[in-house]
Amino acid sequence: MAHIVITSGPTRQYLDPVRYLTNASSGRMGTALAQAALDLGHEVTVVSGPVNVEYPTKAKVSWVTTTQEMLEEARIAFSNADGLIGAAAPCDYMPEHVETSKLQKNGNDLTLHLKETPDIVATLAANKLSKQWVVAFALETQDIRFRAIVKLSRKACDMIVSNSAQAMNSQDNNVEVILRGGTILDQLHGPKSLVAAGILRLIDKHLIAPTVHS
Ligand code: C5P
Repeated sequence: MAHIVITSGPTRQYLDPVRYLTNASSGRMGTALAQAALDLGHEVTVVSGPVNVEYPTKAKVSWVTTTQEMLEEARIAFSNADGLIGAAAPCDYMPEHVETSKLQKNGNDLTLHLKETPDIVATLAANKLSKQWVVAFALETQDIRFRAIVKLSRKACDMIVSNSAQAMNSQDNNVEVILRGGTILDQLHGPKSLVAAGILRLIDKHLIAPTVHS
């Protein structure tokens, strides 16, 4: 049995108290992964941005809003865990300055200065213990496999699940699972619940079982 942390859903970066940047991530893949991990007897902590999906009742859920909050909650949960699955779609940019009161329209264009938010999986993978593992997702619109392999290496993850933009806010998914070093392990298609079960089987075989037996 392993303790697995799953980041899930989008994050929000506020411009002012009412307006924010976000994306269409639904949290469905995170929910399906949580259920698949529980079905294999693992302990699950989900760190989730704002979504309407219901996580399995046996999973511990920590709710966050911003990417920085997701990083902090995931860091705390991962310090007591064996592995992390980064299924969230954290907002990659945040305003340099957040207004404390609602921005007022004045007839002029508004220019936003954005800076990058921290990368959660890259930060946690860079500081992980050798017995811990990190799985990332990569959603791309072109050069899908190539870009996933570049991300796997740049973020120093153990495995990456590559999918296309059609996965966003959808019931189904179509993924390729790639192990560190670039080995293509499998291609999985179908409802997110079945794809998640396949991903968890590969995680069990390649990332959990080798440490259990060593
Ligand atoms: O956005 P990107 O394509 O780089 O996301 C790839 C992986 O990195 C995903 O697993 C996503 O959850 C993770 N990520 C993250 N923190 C970010 C951006 C992405 O953990 N700020």
